[in-house]
Amino acid sequence: MKKTVITTLALAAIFGLNGCGNAPESSSEAKTYSKTPQQVWEGKCFKCHGKNAEGLTEKKTPAMNDRQAGELELDLYDVKNDGLNQSSGTEHDKMAHNMKKLMEQGWDYDPKAMAQFIEKSFYKMPSKTAQEPAVEEAPAVEVAPEAHQAS
Ligand code: HEC
Repeated sequence: MKKTVITTLALAAIFGLNGCGNAPESSSEAKTYSKTPQQVWEGKCFKCHGKNAEGLTEKKTPAMNDRQAGELELDLYDVKNDGLNQSSGTEHDKMAHNMKKLMEQGWDYDPKAMAQFIEKSFYKMPSKTAQEPAVEEAPAVEVAPEAHQAS
């Protein structure tokens, strides 16, 4: 007898949870955007951030081609959430202000998708040149040929 009661309660719990068709959407990630990150980038962002996300001095924009998606996503998230630097730890007042306007005009995007787009399209590994042997160290003459081969 006791067993039946428990079973019934368990079933009720299960159906109770599933039965409610109006459960709130599980997350905002289900949100859809009218434009792809590329469309948004090419429509707006590049004008201030540079064609290759290299950053423009005259617009006072930082480069964004020096970071990978994970890190970019945090900045993009902050910028869309009032520059509160919740995740990236940096201030983005100006960009947050810009972003508010851009979103009002329909230039909205998913931070993750945008971060992936930027990395895929523009990411440059800064280490490539940084790892080159320091120039000052090199003697002016007598370079052993084998030292400069292979690699
Ligand atoms: C009107 C010029 C302008 C436009 C358009 C613009 N930005 Fe910016 N953005 C800035 C400036 C200026 C900064 C630096 C100041 C700041 O972070 O508040 C910045 C900073 C950022 C940062 C912070 C980067 C970092 O390394 O700190 C991100 C991320 C960003 N912008 C993304 C975007 C995206 C995505 C778009 C397109 C939807 C866009 N911006 C369009 C001017 C612009």
